[in-house]
Amino acid sequence: MSTDLKNSWKDHYACAPAQLEKVANASGIVSAFNANIDAIVRLDARRIEDLFKDAPPNERTESEIAEKGDLTRGLLTCLEKGIAEEWLIESEDTYDWMQKTIGYDWLQMGGQGGIVANLMAACGAQNVLVHCASLPEDQGKLFHDMPNLLSADADGKVAKAYSIARDDIPMIHFILEFPKGLSLTIAGKSFTTPRANRFIATYDPLNFGLVIDPAFDKAATETPLSYVILSGYQLLQDSDAPGASASERIDASLDAIDRWRNKSPGLIVHLEAASTQDEHVRRLLMEKVAPTVDSIGVNERETIDLLEVIGEEELAAKCDKDTSAANLYEGLCAIQEKTGVPRIQLHMFGLYLTRQKPNFMLAPEANRNGMAMAAVIAASKAQTGKVDTKEDLMVAKDLTVSDIGLKEMDALAAAYDLSADFKESGLTQIDGMDVIALPTILVDNPVSLVGMGDTISSSSLVGAGLPSR
Ligand code: GLC
Repeated sequence: MSTDLKNSWKDHYACAPAQLEKVANASGIVSAFNANIDAIVRLDARRIEDLFKDAPPNERTESEIAEKGDLTRGLLTCLEKGIAEEWLIESEDTYDWMQKTIGYDWLQMGGQGGIVANLMAACGAQNVLVHCASLPEDQGKLFHDMPNLLSADADGKVAKAYSIARDDIPMIHFILEFPKGLSLTIAGKSFTTPRANRFIATYDPLNFGLVIDPAFDKAATETPLSYVILSGYQLLQDSDAPGASASERIDASLDAIDRWRNKSPGLIVHLEAASTQDEHVRRLLMEKVAPTVDSIGVNERETIDLLEVIGEEELAAKCDKDTSAANLYEGLCAIQEKTGVPRIQLHMFGLYLTRQKPNFMLAPEANRNGMAMAAVIAASKAQTGKVDTKEDLMVAKDLTVSDIGLKEMDALAAAYDLSADFKESGLTQIDGMDVIALPTILVDNPVSLVGMGDTISSSSLVGAGLPSR
């Protein structure tokens, strides 16, 4: 790719530090609903082979962990394909076995809600309100010790999240991370991991029920808000208990969001789709939540998963077979057509792509600036694993964009007959919709990839600055 082209992207990226300063203009940000404790496990060949000896993969087909063999079955697919998956642990016995057998290397903030809240506070937003279904001391201490990062304490009062220690049980997710190029022999079959990635095994009864803290709901209603960033629906599970079906829990969350919106008109509500294994819940997300929000964030896999539940199985298969920006773009169109959501943003390997209605509150250039800020933050996080201060967030600001995204843009331009200017500006219109593309900075051997999607979506939204129209 030409140096000129890369230099023009460097110019577009130069706004990142200034965009970061603008985040302080946001009056309040709600990050809901899921914060949890991530127990990080760094897998190496020996640990993996021992695990597979103890628990050989079973023959079941469900994407869930009811028994030990389910864990290794899910992990095996991720190792072989270099993909990320999250499966829910359905049995307490299996959870206990994991705690004893696998343990963890360290604990860190988990859940989109928790990760986004820490990030937004580090970006300098005024009041970040984070919803926690469970907030014992171990969870509280994973929040940044910052006065602008708040949640509800045991008495229902708003307090600094870091200092809250409610009498709740901790919600723990095991993050099994593996590096690229790991040579393994499992059940006599040898292969090498094609990419660094992770398999997440989640035991989280409170978030499985999308339990909403009434004190938090009240606080969010009383605080002037600029953004609500939603996630956690992917953990939801149907229950027979009264009022606890997935559909009823979703309705309860939408009622809460309505209350917040009534008090803060002009609020932007963003849904981070996240990997939702349960097809019924995924369908409900598309039918109930997506049509009520302003913006949705998805990665490649999530795009395909959503297409499968909106009657676009063929397009899903096409994207699965060739996961290119041009194919995924078609997917974004289908999701927007079906749900009417005004803005959708795809974060794929090497490229971010936003498609929005022409009158959307954030202008295309503002979106591109926010996406550039997000790409710098994501690269800084990948490079150092630290995103605690504004300085940490901008560490990668002078790196050059990768060829991968530029090539994807080329192919998209060819498929839609776009003008040459698109590759330089990242801005265009297709069929009357605004399309904004940004090639990203890729970091070799990333320190950590957990929470990357949440980081990108939330920071590119708030990094765009407050609505200008
Ligand atoms: C999922 C996992 C959580 C992790 C997060 C990162 O929500 O359950 O443990 O921190 O993804 O995106």
